[in-house]
Amino acid sequence: MWEYYNPVNVIFGSEKFNEIEHIISNRKYILVTHPDDNFDTYREFFNNLSNRPLEIFDDVQPNPDYQDLISAGEKFSKIESQIDTVVALGGGSVMDTAKLLAAFKGENKYLNDFVRNKKSAYVQDPKKIIAIPTTSGTSSELTCWATVWDKEYKSKFSLADKSLYPEISVIDPKLMINKPKNLTISTGLDALSHSLESIWNVNSNPISTFHGIAGAQTVIDTLPKLVNDLKNIELRTLMAKACVHAGLAFSNTKTAIAHNISYPITINFNVPHGIACSFTLPTIMRSLIGQDEKTEKSLEKIYNVDLIESSKRLSETLRILEAPLNLNEIGIPKIEWDKYVEDAFQGERGKNFIGNKISFDKACSEMNFF
Ligand SMILES: [Fe+2]
Repeated sequence: MWEYYNPVNVIFGSEKFNEIEHIISNRKYILVTHPDDNFDTYREFFNNLSNRPLEIFDDVQPNPDYQDLISAGEKFSKIESQIDTVVALGGGSVMDTAKLLAAFKGENKYLNDFVRNKKSAYVQDPKKIIAIPTTSGTSSELTCWATVWDKEYKSKFSLADKSLYPEISVIDPKLMINKPKNLTISTGLDALSHSLESIWNVNSNPISTFHGIAGAQTVIDTLPKLVNDLKNIELRTLMAKACVHAGLAFSNTKTAIAHNISYPITINFNVPHGIACSFTLPTIMRSLIGQDEKTEKSLEKIYNVDLIESSKRLSETLRILEAPLNLNEIGIPKIEWDKYVEDAFQGERGKNFIGNKISFDKACSEMNFF
C-alpha cells in the first residue's frame, strides 16, 4: 500500500532555456536570481524579453537567512498584487527564496510566526513557481519545500506545503556547464545524498526507491568523470538527469539521518551542505546490514555487490572526489560529533531513517570513522 505524488511539469534538455519566453507567455512575474557577475547574461536576457519581469530580486545569499527574507518580503509586498508567478533561476538558495516569497507573498508576519514563533506555516494560495536550476544538486525544482536559516539563533527551518511544488521546471544542462569543480562536487554529492536518503527511509515506496537507485547510480557513474571534464555537456546532462531522479525520489520521502547530522555541521563549521551530508553516507550504508531486508536489497542494486562491499565502494567514490570521509578529515571534535548524532536521531529527519543509532555507532567503529 503506497501513494506517490509529484505534479511538476519537467521540461528537460539542452537549449530548453531558449524556450523560456514561450513558457512564461503573458504571466506577470518577478525573477529571483543570484547577484554574481556571471548571472548578468540571464538578467539581461530577461530584461530584453517583450514580457519583462516586474522586478528582479538578485540579492540572494547562500543559505537564505531570516533577516534577508524579511528584507525581500518588504520589497515583494509592494508588487505582490500585480504578479501571478515567481520565476527562480539559480541554485538551491534561489529556489528556497523564491518558494518562501511565493508562499508568504511578502507578509512578513507569517514568516516571523513560522521562524521566530515556531508556529505552523500559513500558506494560502501561493504564487505559481517556475524553476530554472543552474546547478545539479538540491532538486528543489522538484520538491515542495524550502529551507530558511535563522543564523542569529543558529537554527534551520523547513517549510513544506504541497502547494509549493513548482508548476514548471525548465532543466537545461547548458546552464550548468560553467560551474566550478568544488560547486559541482558539493552539489553532486547533495544529489547522491538525496537519492540514498530516500532509500533508507521509513517513507519510501517502490517508485521513490526506483528513482533513488537510478539517481545514486547515475551520480556515482558520472560525477568522478565530470570533475575532470567540467565542460562535457553529455556528462552535465547525465548529472541533471540524476538530479531529476533524486528529486522524484526524495520529494516523496524527505531526507533522513545524514541530512539531520549535517545541519549543525554546516551552521557551526561552515561546511558546504553536500559535503556535510555525504561524509557519513558509507557508514550509514554499512550500519544497515541486517536491519531491513527490503532496504538492504535496494541498496545492493546500486553497486550490484553486498552491503559491506557497497559501503567500501561508496568510500572509494567519495575519495576520488576528494571529499572527507571521517571526523578527522571534516575537522569536527568528537565531543561535538557525539552531541550532533544524539540530537540527529531524535530530529525530524533522523526519525525518517530506517536504521538505528546502535548499528550506526557500530559501523562508525568498523569503518574507523573516528
Ligand atoms: Fe540536501
